[in-house]
Amino acid sequence: MSSGTSRALLLDRFGSLPRPVERPVPEPQPGRTLVRMRAAQVAHLDLNVVDGKFGILPDLPAVPGTTGCGIVLASDIHPEGSLVRLGGKGLGMRRDGCWAEHALVPDAAVQAVPQDTDPALACSYFSPAGTAWAAVHVVADVQPGERVLVTGAAGAVGSLTVQVAARAGAEVIGVVGRPGKLDHVPAAAKPLLAADLSAESVGGPVDVLIDTVGGPVLRDALPLIRPRGRAALVGYTAGREFAVDLADFLLADVSLLPVNLMTRGGEVAADAERLLGELRTGELTLPIERYGLDGLEEAVDRLRTGEAIGKVVLELG
Ligand SMILES: NC(=O)c1ccc[n+]([C@@H]2O[C@H](COP(=O)([O-])OP(=O)(O)OC[C@H]3O[C@@H](n4cnc5c(N)ncnc54)[C@H](OP(=O)(O)O)[C@@H]3O)[C@@H](O)[C@H]2O)c1
Repeated sequence: MSSGTSRALLLDRFGSLPRPVERPVPEPQPGRTLVRMRAAQVAHLDLNVVDGKFGILPDLPAVPGTTGCGIVLASDIHPEGSLVRLGGKGLGMRRDGCWAEHALVPDAAVQAVPQDTDPALACSYFSPAGTAWAAVHVVADVQPGERVLVTGAAGAVGSLTVQVAARAGAEVIGVVGRPGKLDHVPAAAKPLLAADLSAESVGGPVDVLIDTVGGPVLRDALPLIRPRGRAALVGYTAGREFAVDLADFLLADVSLLPVNLMTRGGEVAADAERLLGELRTGELTLPIERYGLDGLEEAVDRLRTGEAIGKVVLELG
């Protein structure tokens, strides 16, 4: 039996922010793992759910948070006291998620992580690492010597994509939207401001675009790809829609390729685990901004405005 109360962030209405509530610590159940949360990611996907603008939405009220990390308190299959990562199985979408001090989740939504991993890294690495690997190696199939343009290159997915593409032997150009982010593009790329994007500034046609931003940045970057080149489309922070002129599209002869970590997750899981090892040792870098449970509003604001550098995480005790 669990006892005591636990704080959680509860969403009452799509389009508002969840509010802090005190509720009883959930009772353990067969098939479920009870976790004392240590950290939970605030991701664009979470904001889409909070805004009611995603294809899978919870019945309200609900606790958002699609990914988290914590210590197992009770479970049929996961060792008590072990550090685990939570994600998948509808967490934060179809069922209560990770923005809480305690979470009771399906056993299958729990994955072990190395015990001395920083919980903020443990809850946030999988999406950028898995997506970067999927974009570079699975979807765009970047080859040594190719020229790769990465947008949102100081963002979480973008900065890891730069590093993974450079390791694949590519020459990488990292595009950012504001001057203050130029210094945050990983050293493996040549940094460039989106406003300066042109055939000249990127040094001629690129073989591959990996776009994490969407909207006008995607529109401006697409013409820079060589015929028969590839554009791997990852995100839409700057705009969900873009128009295709069919005549221009056919003339350009560039493949538009969706990257979907939900369908590719299993395929890239082992690679993401390997990248976690290198993030832990510092061979790869992923910046993380950290906030307390009371700091949700600021965390959301940083993410929504594009000011955030890298991952945004709530630390939960
Ligand atoms: N397809 C998938 O499976 C998959 C998986 C993971 C993530 N994603 C998506 O990929 C995108 C990037 O994710 P992330 O974790 O790397 O996010 P992030 O760290 O916040 O990076 C997104 C970048 O978008 C740019 N941006 C431009 N306009 C913006 C605006 N109005 N608001 C916020 N950002 C803006 C910002 O870069 P500049 O300031 O340099 O423009 C920002 O660094 C998101 O849309 C996310 O949902 C997709």
